[in-house]
Amino acid sequence: MSDRNRGNAGDFSDRPPAIFASLPALIVDWYRKNRRRLPWRETVSPYRTLISEIMLQQTRVEAVKPYFDRFLSLFPDVAALACADDDLLYKAWEGLGYYSRARNLKKCAREIVDRFGGVIPSSYSDLLSLPGIGPYTAGAVAAFAYGEPVAAVDGNVLRVTARITAETGDVLLPAVKNRLTALVSSLVPDDAPGDFGQGLIELGALICLPNRPPKCDLCPVRALCQGYEKRIAGTLPVRGKKAERKRDRRTVLVVRSGTRTLLHKRPARGLLAGLWEFPNFSGGFSEKEALDAVRAFGLEPLRVVPLEPSKHLFTHIEWQMTGYLILVGEPDLPLPDGFVMPETEDLLSRYAIPSAFSAYTRRLREPLPRQ
Ligand code: ADE
Repeated sequence: MSDRNRGNAGDFSDRPPAIFASLPALIVDWYRKNRRRLPWRETVSPYRTLISEIMLQQTRVEAVKPYFDRFLSLFPDVAALACADDDLLYKAWEGLGYYSRARNLKKCAREIVDRFGGVIPSSYSDLLSLPGIGPYTAGAVAAFAYGEPVAAVDGNVLRVTARITAETGDVLLPAVKNRLTALVSSLVPDDAPGDFGQGLIELGALICLPNRPPKCDLCPVRALCQGYEKRIAGTLPVRGKKAERKRDRRTVLVVRSGTRTLLHKRPARGLLAGLWEFPNFSGGFSEKEALDAVRAFGLEPLRVVPLEPSKHLFTHIEWQMTGYLILVGEPDLPLPDGFVMPETEDLLSRYAIPSAFSAYTRRLREPLPRQ
């Protein structure tokens, strides 16, 4: 391992260095005075914490806010989520992205019903045994909702602790991540595990900012921050380069017949599993290829209008899309398996279409071009 990767923040697996002894009280005190009012903090329950923490993975607080209460009113408890209708579930998640989170939440709720009598378990290890729940979420539910003295270390907390300890190793390396997690674990105060854990997250959101210089002049732990003392806080955390996304050119067909629009259900496994989509194909199709594809569905094209290109980033893939609006006659044969042609109004209100297609979904709100 290179020196850079090994880092220099010491081994915290035993006891925290004395220098950090006052950190928990400073964080807890600052959090209680400065925390934002957020929907999942107004009333705390294990279910509310579970839902909010899953929603907050890879998603900004501001983006989650409008979804949280709506989701809770549709699925008010574990039992309701365990038997959620998939289309309704995905519709409630539409726009949040990373739909496997919603699918796993339902699986998780089912297991909570089957294995824990419908009560979300309080122990870290039971939580970790549930589908879709990793170390961070298990720690968050145990600490924030049940007051268990365990750590919840996400990307925010890694950034904050890398700066506080002047950690110059790559925080994506397991050895470095484990070291920082061990430090946080050793510092969790028995009397306020939730406020400590959320305090570290809040410090990361309000003061120790990502991709921007930290606001050290406002920081409650500046006096013990090693990154501040060494004047390197703004250069941390060090993160190795992620693998480049694979580029996938696709052609999206928005096929409309009067007041109806053609949709296809994606396979049950893989990217965007089980969600609805506009029919789409690998490659950049010419108009002729697009029309041939529509004929292969048993539909008769009447008019084709090229649509604007658009792009969507998934974690590992980038879709570079071109699109065609294709007006077709009334379908006179049953549609192929997996295809439906609902009323466009219904499609917009009831079918979950991933935001990867939003440039094309938007087109459905516009009047049809004249034939
Ligand atoms: N990010 C992850 N968990 C959070 C929480 N509980 N509050 C605010 N931001 C968060």
